[in-house]
Amino acid sequence: MDFEKELKKRAAGVNEALDRLVPTVRAYPGIIHEALRYSLFAGGKRLRPVLALAAAEVMGGCCRDIMPAACSLELIHTYSLIHDDLPAMDNDDLRRGMPTCHKKYGEAIALLAGDALLTRAFELISMCPVNKAITPERLIKVVSEISGAAGTGGLIGGQVVDIISSSRNMDAGILEYIHKNKTGALYRVSVRTGVILSGSAGDDLERLTQYADHLGLAFQITDDILDLVGDEKSIGKPVRSDLKNEKATYPSLYGMEKALLMSEEEMEKALEAIEVYDEKADFLRELVKFVVKRNH
Ligand code: IPE
Ligand code: IPE
Ligand code: MG
Ligand code: MG
Ligand code: MG
Repeated sequence: MDFEKELKKRAAGVNEALDRLVPTVRAYPGIIHEALRYSLFAGGKRLRPVLALAAAEVMGGCCRDIMPAACSLELIHTYSLIHDDLPAMDNDDLRRGMPTCHKKYGEAIALLAGDALLTRAFELISMCPVNKAITPERLIKVVSEISGAAGTGGLIGGQVVDIISSSRNMDAGILEYIHKNKTGALYRVSVRTGVILSGSAGDDLERLTQYADHLGLAFQITDDILDLVGDEKSIGKPVRSDLKNEKATYPSLYGMEKALLMSEEEMEKALEAIEVYDEKADFLRELVKFVVKRNH
């Protein structure tokens, strides 16, 4: 499989749906829709919605009907990036290869664009058509899981500890908490959304959740590594931002060589978790390899 080509194709499908599912710039007040669309369509690998759909595919789910829920994950992710870049947080000027939302529209509109994306995300989940697999009960379960993953027991919790920690006073436990929550929680719930809305549960849900947890950790360790050795043009965000902010990261705690090894170990564990599936899971296999070997 030409993975990067396949990823681009799937991301294009997500982009098309996103364009349909968020208000146009003509909707009043235009400025907020312009700002949120600016960040949403600035690029982005679309890994979270693609993952939700790929998990659904393994379970025989209907990707078309699950699409609004998959897109909700990208809206939450983009909101988290807009807020993460603000001067009060990481204070970064470049995102997805473009000036950050607050650089282009000012802090007030950037804050509101993030808020708007987060609330729209939940509206999108309610747009999934009910069918045999997507029952009202399962949709409520997904709302509950996505709220949990985005909240203080997930992404927000991770961001809080990221902000109050520093490379000077961290330990392995704190660092693992940060990564599992600020990034891992959204990966975990992306996969679970795809599985649940395909009508699957039990061992399948357990195995794919394990896969997602290892993938999430591998992803964030690699993100930390790219902050040091990446190239601004490829990653589309400033390099050495973590150094500037004295962030607790895997390379700062363990050193580069060990961090690289740890991301590979997580990749192996992710692959092991989905060993029982046939070639239908090949895209998930290639995805975790890509996450570790990527340069963007
Ligand atoms: C970057 O995520 C933010 C982190 C959680 C580390 P991605 O690398 O998935 O960013 P995009 O969506 O492709 O821009
Ligand atoms: C951001 O982590 C995680 C969230 C936005 C929830 P980082 O601060 O490491 O992300 P980048 O490196 O700016 O993309
Ligand atoms: Mg940050
Ligand atoms: Mg950041
Ligand atoms: Mg980072």
